[in-house]
Amino acid sequence: MSDDDVRVYRGLKGVHFDRSPTTHINGRTGELRYWGYSIHDLAEHSSFEETAYLLLHGELPTEGQLATFDAELKAARTLPEPVVDIIRTLKNAHPMEVLRTAASALGAFDAELDDRSPAAVLRKGIRLTSQVPAIVAAHHRIREGLEPVSAPRELSHAAAFLYQLKDEVPSADAARLMDLDFILHAEHGSNASSFTARVVTGTDANLHAAVTAAIAALSGPAHGGAAEDVMKMAREIGEPEKAAAYIKAKRKNREPIMGFGHRVYRAEDPRARHLRDGMKRLSEEMGEPHWNAILQAVEDAMQPYARLGVNVNVDFYSGVIYHLHGIPQDLFVPIFAVGRVPGWTLQVLQQMESNILIRPLLLYNGPELRSYTPIDERS
Ligand SMILES: CC(C)(COP(=O)(O)OP(=O)(O)OC[C@H]1O[C@@H](n2cnc3c(N)ncnc32)[C@H](O)[C@@H]1OP(=O)(O)O)[C@@H](O)C(=O)NCCC(=O)NCCS
Repeated sequence: MSDDDVRVYRGLKGVHFDRSPTTHINGRTGELRYWGYSIHDLAEHSSFEETAYLLLHGELPTEGQLATFDAELKAARTLPEPVVDIIRTLKNAHPMEVLRTAASALGAFDAELDDRSPAAVLRKGIRLTSQVPAIVAAHHRIREGLEPVSAPRELSHAAAFLYQLKDEVPSADAARLMDLDFILHAEHGSNASSFTARVVTGTDANLHAAVTAAIAALSGPAHGGAAEDVMKMAREIGEPEKAAAYIKAKRKNREPIMGFGHRVYRAEDPRARHLRDGMKRLSEEMGEPHWNAILQAVEDAMQPYARLGVNVNVDFYSGVIYHLHGIPQDLFVPIFAVGRVPGWTLQVLQQMESNILIRPLLLYNGPELRSYTPIDERS
């Protein structure tokens, strides 16, 4: 086959590289299911703990199974002291840099680091599910000149995270909205960070290596950084009346509008609607309805792009929700990571089931063979 016959799929757009029974995404109709369960049912009826169990085991848990799983998560909420020391050393870095480094360091303190059996990877994934929020919260407190705190045992995963950040029990509403956010971010098929985790696993590297690399992939604005950028955009716009002109100016420079568009969804991202309602309610409750009005005006101004398949995505509303919870902007991406750990673990487990090195090709388009010139003969 000549090079001219080779079809190059830049960004691997539209390429299926494996099969997976977990996450069904229909980008045309805007559907998302985990193991056959609609994201809408999970968003309305489930908890993060239950959804994480479902992802990792393939079935919804019984009460007893959920209690055991919950106890395992709670048992892993404390970080090894040397990891807290690393966080102290890095306290002025961006939270994603700190998270990536501390998650990597956790491997050194995990007794099962190199045990690649599915049962051990599952246990490590459960530990990381609790340790990742513990890192994010501990770093935030340390950089504020405060000491990390442990959450009361009875608090749910989402409530415990908010407690670890603020040293106070969150309201039931705040905890539920964070729980919902974690459910909606828990897993999303072969997204960039999960694909990264699979590539790392393909080399037989361990779970901590895969999750560290996934965190690195998530840190870019085209993936996890969008919620932070939406908040920046909402601030820049300032008032709803200015949204249309803002969008026009951005598009004139061919800049993407943050919180819109998706590699897979051509219809609206099915996760968005749950956060839209929550954001609207919360912005009214907190006496800051202008955020809802600004985002609504942006959505209206972006309406013409819907026919190109560019619609609102999950990150459009989450930033304002975090802001209304008093969470600083640079924690928005780390919060996405907190929710995504079960998804990364699942992808690693599935990759391991029939592992294969992931090694695609680059089509060479450089110079023909050239003769080597010694350095003293080069002009
Ligand atoms: C996520 C993203 C990287 C996907 O990129 P992609 O798969 O290359 O995008 P598509 O192939 O769907 O783009 C199709 C067209 O829509 C346009 N488009 C895509 N996203 C857009 C956006 N956010 N704003 C305006 N136009 C957009 C593209 O420029 C392209 O137009 P063109 O054909 O004239 O060049 C992109 O939509 C983006 O940068 N969005 C903003 C960041 C964001 O919210 N990320 C979070 C994703 S959950």
